[in-house]
This record gives sequence, C-alpha cells and structure tokens, in this order.
Amino acid sequence: MQFITTEHYDQLSNKAAMIIAGQVSFKKNSVIGLATGSSPIGVYKSLVHLYKNDYIDFSEVSTLNLDEYLGIDPMDEQSYASFMRKNLFQNFNICTSNTHIPQSNPADVDAECIRYEQLIKHLGRIDLQLLGIGQNGHIGFNEPAAHFERETHVVELDQRTLQSNARYFESIDLMPKQAITVGIGTIMKARKIVLLASGHEKSEILDEAFFGPVTPAVPASILQFHPDVTVVADQAAMQVISRKGRL
Ligand code: PGA
Repeated sequence: MQFITTEHYDQLSNKAAMIIAGQVSFKKNSVIGLATGSSPIGVYKSLVHLYKNDYIDFSEVSTLNLDEYLGIDPMDEQSYASFMRKNLFQNFNICTSNTHIPQSNPADVDAECIRYEQLIKHLGRIDLQLLGIGQNGHIGFNEPAAHFERETHVVELDQRTLQSNARYFESIDLMPKQAITVGIGTIMKARKIVLLASGHEKSEILDEAFFGPVTPAVPASILQFHPDVTVVADQAAMQVISRKGRL
C-alpha cells in the first residue's frame, strides 16, 4: 500500500490522471475500472486535458464503471451514465461500445447483474481500478454489511450514502434508494487500485479503512489485503492518518 499526499485536490487529480495515463501508454488495450462521485471529476478533467494535448490515446481502452442507480432514466442528469458522458466520454477518444455501465432501468434486475458479471469476466482482469471512498467506507456501492459481497449485485443504499448524495438531487425523496454495484471480488481482482480521497470529511474513514480492522462493516478495509493499492489523497483527507503518525 502506497500513499501519495498532495496539498490540494487539483494536484491529487493530476497525479491520479498521470498514473492512468502511464497504465494506458504501457498497455493500449487496458481495461480500466471507473468511478463516479465528486472525487474523480478532476481526474477526468486532467485526462481530457492530456488527450487534447495528444499525450494519451484511449482508442483501444475498455472501461467498466463500478455502479449505477436503479430506477433512474439513463438520460437523467443524475444517472451515472450521464455523469460519465458529461465528465469524460463526450470529450474523449474512447469508443462508446468499449464503455460499460450497469443498466439503470433493466426489465429484469437479476438478469442485469448476471449480464454485467459475465461482461466483466469476458473483458478479463481489470488492469487499473479507480475508486473513491464513501464516508461510510463504501467502495462502489458496496455498503457496510455483514459480509463482503463478491459479485455484481443490487444494494439498498445506506442512510449515510443517501444523505451524502442527496445534494445532487432536488430532494432526498427523489433519490433512488437502490443501485447495482460490482462486488468486492471484482474490485479485489484488479491488478492495480488507485483510491482517491479529498477533504476533511474523508479523514476518519481513510484512517479506519487502511489502519483499522479488516471488516465488511468498513468495505474499503478489504483493500489492506490487495497487493497493489495506491491511495492518492490531499492533506485534508490525510489529517487523521498524519495526526496518529500512521506513516
Ligand atoms: P464522493 O463519493 O467522491 O462524491 O465523495 C465517493 C464515493 O461515494 O465512493
């Protein structure tokens, strides 16, 4: 486990984008696992900048998103499909057919979980998985639970996730209460993991996840068992880890 600490969010975003760029220049047809939320927005902005300046080429890359809300129109501004189009795909040289996100409105939810799991297996091992971390320790939408869920599944969103993500919706009542997420098994099988954390509000959970016990009550804590995790965090997110002298 490696920690890269930056002063601010912009530097964090540039660092993580450079790690992804390095992966793709090393292997043009990389499979990259992508995340949504506020944490990766700067990374995507940096990647678009690198592409527009001819530093990177994503034409052979495949992407797999971690999760999607259930019961939301894919064209709705708050769907993760819209988020990815707006923040990355529409400004980038990636083939739409190589980008994958769970369906938000499938006729059969269980069949969609099976389809997405088979797709992951078909694409082979994820070369690099980008992650954020929820204030409750979730990765993807793997919420605190009694056990680690391995494969793609439906989740009831945790109260803290609802509260934290309600800011994107007109009201918490209009927010989807369920989502489809890839499982912890898929995340753990990625060759390399880059986890982003920015801001004071991530400081306690970052410490718990990487220096506390490994437990499904803090899903990100499983990453302590992964052989290649890089945490890219700003000083605000590193506050508790620094104060406790963990590193
Ligand atoms: P955030 O969410 O990037 O919006 O803080 C992270 C997450 O929930 O994984």
